[in-house]
Amino acid sequence: MAPALLFLLFPAVFLLLHLYRRLRFRIPPGPRPWPVVGNLYDIKPVRFRCFAEWAQSYGPIISVWFGSTLNVVVCNAELAKEVLKEKDQQLADRHRSRSAAKFSRDGQDLIWADYGPHYVKVRKVCTVELFSPKRLEALRPIREDEVAAMVESIYTDCTAPENLGKSLQLKKYLGAVAFNNITRLAFGKRFVNSEGLLDKQGQEFKAIVANGLKLGASLAMAEHIPWLRWMFPLDEDAFAKHGARRDRLTREIMEEHTIARQKNGAKQHFFDALLTLQDQYDLTEDTIIGLLWDMITAGMDTTAISVEWAMAELIKNPRVQKKVQDELDSVIGHERVMTEMDFSNLPYLQCVAKEALRLHPPTPLMLPHRANANVKIGGYDIPKGSNVHVNVWAVARDPKVWKNPLEFWPERFLEEDVDMKGHDHRLLPFGAGRRVCPGAQLGINLVTSMIGHLLHHFSWTPRNGSSTEEIDMGENPGLVSYMRIPLEAVPTPRLMPQLYKRAAVDT
Ligand code: HEM
Repeated sequence: MAPALLFLLFPAVFLLLHLYRRLRFRIPPGPRPWPVVGNLYDIKPVRFRCFAEWAQSYGPIISVWFGSTLNVVVCNAELAKEVLKEKDQQLADRHRSRSAAKFSRDGQDLIWADYGPHYVKVRKVCTVELFSPKRLEALRPIREDEVAAMVESIYTDCTAPENLGKSLQLKKYLGAVAFNNITRLAFGKRFVNSEGLLDKQGQEFKAIVANGLKLGASLAMAEHIPWLRWMFPLDEDAFAKHGARRDRLTREIMEEHTIARQKNGAKQHFFDALLTLQDQYDLTEDTIIGLLWDMITAGMDTTAISVEWAMAELIKNPRVQKKVQDELDSVIGHERVMTEMDFSNLPYLQCVAKEALRLHPPTPLMLPHRANANVKIGGYDIPKGSNVHVNVWAVARDPKVWKNPLEFWPERFLEEDVDMKGHDHRLLPFGAGRRVCPGAQLGINLVTSMIGHLLHHFSWTPRNGSSTEEIDMGENPGLVSYMRIPLEAVPTPRLMPQLYKRAAVDT
């Protein structure tokens, strides 16, 4: 009897609450929510496309109910500016799912921290110390080494007699650069040896990342309907084990670094930097561990995804591919390889990276921000506790502010130099305002370098026997937008064989 009564009671309470909010607040329009589940079952898997479609019917600011939580999505540059600049401070908190709360020890890190004294302190550590231009420059040899390793491995694979003229899947190579680069930069470790084999710590590292994703995904439905959570109890045990495993590995590496630092002095990677700065900034061990893993979460997939999309566009647009290669040939020539120092002489290459990030931002809805006060956006009320998403994918394709928005046309940025690091609200692949991506410059350098090397060293054509039109430009569902079908393409080397060799560096 009691459970049946509860089942009748909860929808009634939900309806009353919903009615109260509707009457008290003038919230943005949107599809009609169902009792209890809200719009959860109306949302199509690729959310940013779905929200952009809804915006066509309801206008550029819409309400979407994830169960009983109001989510507001804005889809144009003007509203993006209101969210990320004018009302930035009231909208700078984060919604932490139960798994995010567990992983981050309730926001002891940066990504999942609410805006407040802890956030301001840790953000300062990132801006002033970890991502300072000086440190980025000091870590450049690592980035260049990893890009060289990628070129070498593509060359080895595509020139093997059994592979001649065959296509390869790019994701594998791009993922390896992203993985090695971020683990070296954050943890000071290359877990992969020169034969491409993962060592024991590396295997553990990958297993922890995969397990984290699995645990995070397992709660999705109950996440949005708080009173249903008793039916989906958090597997406290699994989370505790996961946390302990992550801490064990991190501490093991920490001890190795402590010994190495005493012998040889501090290196430039984030681990040594954070341990050296621990007292100055009063950082707990939880915060150091949280920050290091934040870098893995935020910095690994984003760069690889961006380059995969860029390469898909370059294969679909041979004119653009050829134009980048002409620029590379005239600035770098065929006697040496490109370095990041060459970027300033390669304006078209930079435009290509920007155009790829415009059409295919790897986090198309950024990360949701949560309102820490009642606030007005676009004349509508956003009650405290609501989540606000900026559909940066839709903003960057808005025909009201972009000429031929769906065309991959890097020349648009030669005509008008549009900032992409948060100052121009038409182009926001890294977000803007207080929570703008702290790794933006690092991301841009890595993406530009990978595209530049891929095009300087190779010419790229579609998978054997297929046409450029057959490249599937659809996205996978998820917070980050992988290509639905991983890109396959045929590389043809275009430089002398000795320029494909990696000379490993240790930084
Ligand atoms: C192409 C590459 C990248 C793109 C497009 C990108 C994009 C973004 C976006 C959209 C956000 C959310 C901003 C917001 O909530 O308003 C973000 C946050 C963040 N990104 Fe990136 N990112 C990239 C690379 C990186 C890299 C390489 C790192 C670090 C190694 C990094 C570290 C972070 C961190 C720590 C945050 C959380 C900031 C906060 O909550 O205050 N990102 N990024």
